[in-house]
Amino acid sequence: MPPQAALLQLFFGKQIAYCLSAVASLGVADHMGRTPVSVDALSEKVGAHAPSLYRVMRLLAGAGVFEELPEKRFALTPLSELLKTDAEGSLRYLAIIWGEDWSTRAMAEIEGCVRSGRDGVTAVFGKNIFEVFAEHPDWARKFQRAMSSFSASAGPAVVKAYDFSEIRRLADVGGGHGMLLASILKQYPSMHGVLFDLPEVIAGAPSSNHFDGCNGRVQMEPGTFFERVPSGCDAYLLKHIIHDWSDEHCRKILSLVRDQLPTGGRVLLCEMVVPAEPGMVPSKALDIEMLVMTPGGKERTRQEFAELFASAGLRLVRVVPTDGPLCVLEARSA
Ligand SMILES: C[S@@+](CC[C@H](N)C(=O)[O-])C[C@H]1O[C@@H](n2cnc3c(N)ncnc32)[C@H](O)[C@@H]1O
Repeated sequence: MPPQAALLQLFFGKQIAYCLSAVASLGVADHMGRTPVSVDALSEKVGAHAPSLYRVMRLLAGAGVFEELPEKRFALTPLSELLKTDAEGSLRYLAIIWGEDWSTRAMAEIEGCVRSGRDGVTAVFGKNIFEVFAEHPDWARKFQRAMSSFSASAGPAVVKAYDFSEIRRLADVGGGHGMLLASILKQYPSMHGVLFDLPEVIAGAPSSNHFDGCNGRVQMEPGTFFERVPSGCDAYLLKHIIHDWSDEHCRKILSLVRDQLPTGGRVLLCEMVVPAEPGMVPSKALDIEMLVMTPGGKERTRQEFAELFASAGLRLVRVVPTDGPLCVLEARSA
């Protein structure tokens, strides 16, 4: 492909991402299956302007998201199956939050982020993303749904890759609504779990039904991990927490965890690990999301994780890859 066309194709990532977000918000895939359906019928069901929805779906079909058939009919593909609300591993809510007001306004600040090293959410709202969510329950609810559905797909890969069998009481620190904790507890019927997150997040968690089948083995604990973490656990799981924060913030969180570790206790991070080699990988794209959306958060290399653990009195013992994009990084007291 000529360089100009290749560069333009990269620019057009914007149109693809926004169109995905729009069809996810409209719930288009929920009204579709593998049998083709006309764009007129779809528009009526989701309340859209048919000629505009057609243009959006035609572009997405070109990217493999839908199958386009004669007479302006479309069918689902394996990609758009994942935009259905209740699909296993659904990414519908992740697509929705990609186009939400807080996200797009923060992303518009990217040049300022690159100049200053500060995040776009704070530039727009004057406070960090979690403080913004505390004031906007609707944004927070959709964010937690996005995290839960991502965990629902990443969770089984983590459970398959890592042997949790010697853990008796597992804390999920910043565990959101506890989707990952629930997958682990279901796999290990004698394990107990503590779900720890901000009070407003914990308040939303029991309404979810992920814990069916965990037979009262889950304790909910509200709090902030800059002040304390649960006590009395032999392992502390932090999924997509460390990537939200600067090294200084992370040292505080990890030091509090280290202070609670019993002899032989473990810290388990579930994160992407940025490879040392050049090349296009999801961790490098997610890293830009962290640059813009979080106060100093970033995706880290193995070396950066090892140094971060060491600075908090911990030792990186091993990195266990999973079938998905995440690794389990196991650390113990130094
Ligand atoms: C990126 S989400 C990850 C959620 C969950 N671990 C998952 O992977 O699905 C970050 C989580 O950290 C929580 N969080 C943010 N600040 C916190 C704090 N100071 N104390 C405890 N939890 C916090 C958020 O509420 C949110 O649930």
